[in-house]
Amino acid sequence: MAYDFADRLKNLPPYLFAEIEEKVARKIEKGIDIIDFGIGDPDLPTPRPLVEEIQKQLEDPVNHRYPSAQGESDTRLAIAEWYQKRFNVDLDPDREIAILLGSKEGLANVARAFVNPGEKVLCPDPAYPVYSQGAATLCDAISVKFPLYEEDNFFPNFNNDIPQDAKMMYLNYPNNPTGAVASREDLQKAVQWCEDTNTILCYDNAYSEMTFDDYIAPSALEFGRRSIEFGSLSKTFNMTGYRIGYAVGDPILIAGLKKVKSQIDSGTPKFIQKAVDVALGSYDGRSRPKIVQDSVDVYRRRRDLIVRGLRELGFDIKLPKGTFYLFFNVGGSSIDFANKMLDAGIVVTPGIGFGNSGEGFVRLALTQSEDRITEALERMEKIL
Ligand SMILES: Cc1ncc(COP(=O)(O)O)c(C=O)c1O
Repeated sequence: MAYDFADRLKNLPPYLFAEIEEKVARKIEKGIDIIDFGIGDPDLPTPRPLVEEIQKQLEDPVNHRYPSAQGESDTRLAIAEWYQKRFNVDLDPDREIAILLGSKEGLANVARAFVNPGEKVLCPDPAYPVYSQGAATLCDAISVKFPLYEEDNFFPNFNNDIPQDAKMMYLNYPNNPTGAVASREDLQKAVQWCEDTNTILCYDNAYSEMTFDDYIAPSALEFGRRSIEFGSLSKTFNMTGYRIGYAVGDPILIAGLKKVKSQIDSGTPKFIQKAVDVALGSYDGRSRPKIVQDSVDVYRRRRDLIVRGLRELGFDIKLPKGTFYLFFNVGGSSIDFANKMLDAGIVVTPGIGFGNSGEGFVRLALTQSEDRITEALERMEKIL
């Protein structure tokens, strides 16, 4: 007799990108040159000082042992010092900070700590799928989607009917997949709404350092201390493969997350945690250090190049102020558009993969060089 998935796994929606991935694999097998704007994984290398620090720490046998599930104390201290410099927020490293195996793990595990089966979790639509699936569905909770509209700069309208009886709400700015950023006023409104309705705000700030022009991303904790905020070294320092992130905020929320984690994982390797001090210690006040600014400059140049090219091809597209994603309206089915691109050897992500409200849009990750972007634009011109 075949084994049967648990209902919560069966309740996960079908993996929409599987079909595209299969087609890509078939094209690669045939030797077709693919330009992949699909995955949000930096193509730039981890800055040398961080790689060298990790190599050095790896040599020390002290760092070969189990780390602490809540994070090493000096790593938590480095996060606290950075929050003070970067956001002017004071954190108690023992009670208000947890180190994560990348922020994804914390975003999902916090729901295990606070959401009972059948309770509501508010999830943006479109969104990073982990909130609705990894958190709500895998906790047997009800994922209640609230739409984000382009005309509202992809920020929720709290005057509309967002249910006020949910346990938790996820918000993410700078935003994946839309590239939208939140103004200080908007974020303050969101924090206040969550406090007024006793909804736990899980604020995903994974892209806080990947912003352009004059925009500086705030922390939700600047506007209240009852939320939990998630951050990551993944995108800021090109470290997606190292698995290091953090959660900060309300001591009860942090304690719940740590309690779940203590039963499931044993933390990010110590030699990787040691790099946090070097990475965040490179900040001098609020502005980005060179090792971060260099990457942001590369993404900004790519953003400008591709937006200019897409506008020339007739797309109505704004310059995003955050993240390395472009999200734009293709005036029809997002899957049809993605398939058409694929025929030209270009991978883009159909917006519907991020929720029904993403339909009509596609997402491009700026993880290809300027030469490859130029090549992709030339290919597009031929087929559009
Ligand atoms: C919005 C958002 N949050 C969190 C993550 C998770 O990042 P990590 O687990 O590498 O910290 C990602 C990764 O793509 C993301 O796009």
